[in-house]
Amino acid sequence: MAFLFNSDAARGAIFREAFARELPDIEFFQAGESVEPERIRYLISWTAPEDIARYSNLEILFSIGAGVDQFKPGSVPRHVKLVRMIEDGITRMMQEYVALGVLTLHREMTAYREQQRQAQWRPLAIPPASERRVGFLGLGLLAQASIERLKPFGFALSGWSRNSKEIDGVECFSGAGRFADFLQQADILVCLLPLTDETQGILDAELFARLPEGARLLHVGRGPQLDHDALISALDSGHIAGAMLDVTDPEPLPAADRLWSHPKVVITPHIASVTQPGTAARAVIENIRRHRDGKEMVGLVDRTLGY
Ligand code: GLV
Repeated sequence: MAFLFNSDAARGAIFREAFARELPDIEFFQAGESVEPERIRYLISWTAPEDIARYSNLEILFSIGAGVDQFKPGSVPRHVKLVRMIEDGITRMMQEYVALGVLTLHREMTAYREQQRQAQWRPLAIPPASERRVGFLGLGLLAQASIERLKPFGFALSGWSRNSKEIDGVECFSGAGRFADFLQQADILVCLLPLTDETQGILDAELFARLPEGARLLHVGRGPQLDHDALISALDSGHIAGAMLDVTDPEPLPAADRLWSHPKVVITPHIASVTQPGTAARAVIENIRRHRDGKEMVGLVDRTLGY
C-alpha cells in the first residue's frame, strides 16, 4: 500500500519524513520515483494527473489546496474520495490576510497610497469599526476562523451561506431568499466562497448594485467568481469605493489589465493562504487514520455539490 506525493520535491521531503514517523506501514513515493501504479492507494496533488486511471486501486485523492475546483469535472473517477486541504497553516494565513484586507479597506489605505503618490497630506474621516458592517459571502471553516480574528476589532459582522448557520456574534443570512438582504448591509464584502457552477461570476454588476453606496470588496475566493469589467465600472462610478483582490481570472493577471493600475484596487498574487507542508502532512496523516478507523475524513468533498 503506497502514498504518492505529486507536487514539489521540497514539500514532499517534509511529507516523507512525517509519513516515515507516523505511518511507517505506508510506502511513500514522490512524483518521478518508480512505483507500480496499482500499489498507489493514496495520492496528493494540486490537479488530477492525466494518467490517473493507471492508479487502479486509488482510494483517496487529497487536494494540496483548500479548494478543489481545479479538479475538472470528470477528471477524478467517481469512486475515488476527494478531500480538501484543511490544515492549521492555511487557516492562520487566511486569518492574517482577511484581517489585513478588512483593515486596509476600513482604514482607507488605497486612498492613502494614491495620496502618497501625489504627495498629499489629507486625513480622511472614517466610521468607527462598530459602524462598519463586514459581511462574509460564504461561512465555511476559513470564513469562520477569519471572523474570530476580526471580532476583537468590534466590526458589525454578518455572513451569508447556502444552508443556515449560527455563529456567535454574527448576523447569519442563508439561502437565495436572504441574499439581497445580506448584500444591502455589507459595507465590506469578503468573498470566501468555493468556486462552483453557482458561484461562477457571482460578483457581477447586479451584486455590486445591491451593496450599499461606498461598499468595498475583499476577494479571497476564486478568480472566475469576479466580473472584472463590472468591478471597474462600479469603482469608476464611485458606488464601490475600493477592492483588494488576491485572486483574478486569469492568473497571473495580464500586464495590460486595467485592474493593475486602478487607483482603488490592491492586488496580491494569490498568496492569501498557502498550504504549509508541516501542518498539512499532519492533517493528511490524521485523515488517513480517520479513514482507517471508519470515521469520516475532515474536508471530504460532496461530489454532487463540488466542495
Ligand atoms: C489556495 O487558494 C488554496 O486552494 O489552497
